[in-house]
Amino acid sequence: MALLPILQHPDPRLRQKAAPVTVFDARLQTLIDDLFETMYDAPGVGLAATQVGVMLRVAVMDCAPKDEPPERVVIINPDILSSADRQDMEEGCLSVPDTSEKVPRYNRLHLRALDRHGQTFEVQAEGLMAQAIQHEIDHLDGKLYIDYLSSLKRERINKKLRKQRQTA
Ligand code: NI
Repeated sequence: MALLPILQHPDPRLRQKAAPVTVFDARLQTLIDDLFETMYDAPGVGLAATQVGVMLRVAVMDCAPKDEPPERVVIINPDILSSADRQDMEEGCLSVPDTSEKVPRYNRLHLRALDRHGQTFEVQAEGLMAQAIQHEIDHLDGKLYIDYLSSLKRERINKKLRKQRQTA
């Protein structure tokens, strides 16, 4: 396994749309293991392949509370079948470090996806898990949570990130 560098906004690769996975080979298994290792190291609750520059529709997440055993979830070629209960939820992103804002998300959704072996599964998710699924699918479509903010708020975040890079 390997820790992969996480791309940072405004890297243009974060704006690319990822392609569906068609081959479930050893390389894909390695990618998934590396995504988990990188996510836990960060630490974060979710990580999409696009965030490490791999343009495939794969994301990993673990929304288990800190003091509970890990719940590794892999979603491949995910598809939200229905969603409900829109609310504003506090959100951050490993590609937009050290900042979080409230964005509109659905609190409940019905997801269909493939697992790491290519088997279809469906899940009813709610709360943090539902939020993470929407956030990661956005990544696979080249979207970031800051896209939901007002241009004023977004520019404030961009300014802060520029400053951080200059002093890094
Ligand atoms: Ni993110």
